[in-house]
Amino acid sequence: MNEYSPGILKARERILVALDTPDLARAAAISEDLKGLVGGMKIGKEFFTANGPDGVRAAVSGQPLFLDLKFHDIPNTVAGAIRSACHLHPMIVNVHAAGGRAMMQAAAEAAREASEDLEIERPLVIAVTLLTSLDQSDLDEVGIKGPVQDRVVALARLAQDCGLDGVVCSAREIAALRDACGPAFKLVVPGIRPAWSETGDQKRVMTPAQAVASGADYLVIGRPISAAADPAAAAKRVIAELEEG
Ligand code: C5P
Repeated sequence: MNEYSPGILKARERILVALDTPDLARAAAISEDLKGLVGGMKIGKEFFTANGPDGVRAAVSGQPLFLDLKFHDIPNTVAGAIRSACHLHPMIVNVHAAGGRAMMQAAAEAAREASEDLEIERPLVIAVTLLTSLDQSDLDEVGIKGPVQDRVVALARLAQDCGLDGVVCSAREIAALRDACGPAFKLVVPGIRPAWSETGDQKRVMTPAQAVASGADYLVIGRPISAAADPAAAAKRVIAELEEG
């Protein structure tokens, strides 16, 4: 079992805060404010492309890291990318399930090998199934047929079969995926909005407590915390709501 999958997570450990900015100083300030308060920071392509691995180290300052770079390439290249990512000691890394069986197996194997070589805890390797920004007509256009939820479940099962630890999924997919993939499969869920926060551009949202009650393991929360006047106070409010259930 991974250090990061101790079974029952504490409320605060479930919260991964998305640092969606190219601005290193801003990301570092938010992260410093939240240190020890939440489960970790999520860093994606915007920040990474602007600031690189050294920027990531500076921004997260030792906190658990979800490195959200969604690798999708030939197996050899993805394996290399995962090995390089392991130098940042991430808690979670991810790939696109559409990269297929050999790519996902190579990713899982690379994470195992690199973490042994570096003597670090193995990161969870999770998959993105279908991007939630795609609707049925977008999927038809790229040749992906059938009901979205069926494709999501099929891709999650494939990821599990390839040795991956979980998937990123929308709140509305939690129940079907928990059913299909069992209790140990990690479900990492963005699109989370406390009742008191702005919905913004997120269309299908759930509150933190609803998402955990539905079976989410980790909650990816961006603007409700990062754009709050007082990010630490917003994080504490979310934690208190989770603890109330
Ligand atoms: O600010 P907000 O809470 O909407 O941020 C959510 C984070 O989760 C962003 O980093 C966004 O890119 C990511 N995400 C998402 N919806 C998905 C997948 C990822 O909002 N389906």
